[in-house]
Amino acid sequence: MQTEIEIRGLSHHFVSPGGKSVSTIEDISLNVAPGEFVAIVGPSGCGKSTILNIVSGLLAVSEGEISIGGKKVQGVSKELVYMPARDSLFPWRTCKKNVELPLELQGILTPAERGERAEMLLNAVGLNGFSDYFPSSLSHGMRQRVAVARTFSTSPRILLMDEPFSALDAQTKIVVQDLFLKIWEEEKQTVLLITHDVMEAVALADRVVVLSARPGKIKSIHNIDLDRPRSVRKLLFDEPKFQKYLHAIWEDLDVQE
Ligand SMILES: Nc1ncnc2c1ncn2[C@@H]1O[C@H](COP(=O)(O)OP(=O)(O)O)[C@@H](O)[C@H]1O
Ligand SMILES: [Mg+2]
Repeated sequence: MQTEIEIRGLSHHFVSPGGKSVSTIEDISLNVAPGEFVAIVGPSGCGKSTILNIVSGLLAVSEGEISIGGKKVQGVSKELVYMPARDSLFPWRTCKKNVELPLELQGILTPAERGERAEMLLNAVGLNGFSDYFPSSLSHGMRQRVAVARTFSTSPRILLMDEPFSALDAQTKIVVQDLFLKIWEEEKQTVLLITHDVMEAVALADRVVVLSARPGKIKSIHNIDLDRPRSVRKLLFDEPKFQKYLHAIWEDLDVQE
């Protein structure tokens, strides 16, 4: 099997203010194939964000090795885009200018082409007509749609997403997840999605990795054999297999009552 992201024997610890070493993840090994969508779920504090920070090159590896496209990760890679939980749009830029920003930074298109790509993506997330609005005049759900459009703007090979939809209300979340899936199903980036939301993981991913409570270790991996293209809305209401996966993954999660 071809590998896009390879995580080998990854362990990490933080040093507490008192000087104690606190282990956050232990011996994580995982291969993600090109175009594969993998979700990692686990209880709060089990080291999910730590894994993503290390894969993105933002945090140095304590122990183990990460490769992207067969090359060892050293520092931040240009192949990937990181989408955080908060939309983190720049308030002084319009929606369109926010979506264009990663393209400007990479200097890969002419200004006219950048504008076209931004308009196309804003249409794809249902924001036609809002290009020249500033983020402050949009709802939280709309801002997160702009963030989805921006995530795709440079056609990155790899998307790293840390709880990207967690701050949205339940209905808006489903709408934005479906918009996201629609674009992804055309572009098929390799995705590593971190979430505490089991429904989100099953609805979106090809494989769901379950981590134990801290220090996070891989407890189980579930193949999600649901047809694509998918619709989160349809899965939630009309797919009996969906419930079966939710149940199996919940059984594996160390949820504290
Ligand atoms: N900079 C840091 N210094 C010390 N401990 C940290 C730091 N960042 C995170 N931790 C601890 O590491 C553990 C894992 O954190 P994190 O990766 O954010 O978990 P998750 O994303 O699964 O909620 C947590 O228990 C947290 O308290
Ligand atoms: Mg986190």
